[in-house]
Amino acid sequence: MRCTFCQWALSLAIVANLVILYYGTKLQQRVLPRHRELGRLSSQRPSNNSVPGVTILIREFEDFENYVPEVVQSFLKNNPTQPVVVAADILPYPPMQLPSSPHVHLVVLKPSPEQPAYASRPEYYVQTEYVALVPDGVRVDATKQLEKMLEEYKASRGQAHMVAAPIESLIPLHCLDLMVSLKEWTATYSMATSSNLCSALRGEAVILLQTRDFFNLSSPLAKPLSSSLFIQSSLRGWKVRILEDISFPSTQQPLFTSSHNQWKADNHAKASRAQLFRDFGIRRVVMEDEKQQWYGCSKETLRCFGTVHDDTPDYLYQDRWTPPCCLKALRETTSYVISILESSGVRYWLEGGTLLGAARHQDIIPWDYDVDLGIYLEDIPNCEFLRNIESGSIVDEKGYVWEKAIEGDFFRVQYSETNHLHVDLWPFYPRNGIMTKNTWTDHKQDVEFPEHFLKPLVPMSFAGFTALAPNDYRSFVELKFGEGVIENPEYPNPAFRKLRSGS
Ligand SMILES: *[C@@H]1O[C@H](CO)[C@@H](O)[C@H](O)[C@H]1NC(C)=O
Repeated sequence: MRCTFCQWALSLAIVANLVILYYGTKLQQRVLPRHRELGRLSSQRPSNNSVPGVTILIREFEDFENYVPEVVQSFLKNNPTQPVVVAADILPYPPMQLPSSPHVHLVVLKPSPEQPAYASRPEYYVQTEYVALVPDGVRVDATKQLEKMLEEYKASRGQAHMVAAPIESLIPLHCLDLMVSLKEWTATYSMATSSNLCSALRGEAVILLQTRDFFNLSSPLAKPLSSSLFIQSSLRGWKVRILEDISFPSTQQPLFTSSHNQWKADNHAKASRAQLFRDFGIRRVVMEDEKQQWYGCSKETLRCFGTVHDDTPDYLYQDRWTPPCCLKALRETTSYVISILESSGVRYWLEGGTLLGAARHQDIIPWDYDVDLGIYLEDIPNCEFLRNIESGSIVDEKGYVWEKAIEGDFFRVQYSETNHLHVDLWPFYPRNGIMTKNTWTDHKQDVEFPEHFLKPLVPMSFAGFTALAPNDYRSFVELKFGEGVIENPEYPNPAFRKLRSGS
């Protein structure tokens, strides 16, 4: 059989088609799983960020005045393929004129209902192994800061999870130690013992870390970025190393050209800080100068936990103890109530769990939610508030609310009309040498006891002041709670929530 030229050409075309089809399919197979992976990734996990190099992440800037396009431009000038992600809460307005480059992405974190989930997830756009958090107003010059940071990061591996380079002309970076106790709703900053290996920084810096570490934080993009980052990293035991030999210049003009814009920016910063602490459940911040900031309840806010069921407040189920603002309010209320009782001649004593706390560590038990005082029933007429209470509640001139409890024959003094943290006053009377009362709760510590514990009452340190307590308080609390109760702390209702040893 002879092949014509046409037949030859046809065969060649068929073979060529087959080859194209084969490679085309292979190519598609390579692309398809990626697409599938994207779908999964968007709903579950960050990308595998395996590309070598660093992505610039700019998270914090003000819509009304920023230098983000200039910052991005300076990085692109140094390296035209520099990946950059700008993450904004909502679409910036006025619009942000970012340099157009396939490597620069503006990611709006607020999901839009017609977009796939990954569109609002910056982790999808960060494909590199490392990410550098860059504040607004920072430039990069020809001195290759990012490359050097990366080298230093690799050199500090094992010692530091993050490296930080200062920014010229801004306040120098301070190395701080940060201790976060979620259990106690508290973040405590102190001057670091080391000058360059710290758990938090004060001041602005470019921070470089592994993308995998960054996006594995619970809220990587929460603002203010540096407060949020160091709270989360210190909970993981990470350290940041300050690189003193590398620094970034700032953009030509200073940020915020008018005092009005500065004022707006300061207000935003303050609000986002308060929101961050609320979101993270941090209610007390102790600064490095030992000043305290409170983000918790006050006389004007509701008590920061709801109705208590089974003697187990909600925070115990979150592995937390009483918020420190509540303990503070309880101490204040107790000290105030005691001063009124003392000045009006009502004999009182620390009762129940309150006495137990005083015996253990001269304070309210760290997970307790109210304070109990015993009083002599016959002394009630001596106190104008208790005497007049039958007709409803009394708000005194300090804003405390005195009322007869609806649950039984006892009195309750609330921190304020809004905030119902309270001290309970339990009236007892002697009968044949035994202190008794008419209504009882189902608490096992709510029992009669010999009057000799009250003769005499003895001073005891409690919550920063001196209160009166039964003599031989050890026998008294052991009579009520059982032997060894001072040495063996337990939550109020172990059937519902047990105090784990070591926690
Ligand atoms: C993410 O964090 C958790 C704990 O915070 C850790 O157990 C896990 O190994 C981390 N994953 C990666 C990929 O680093």
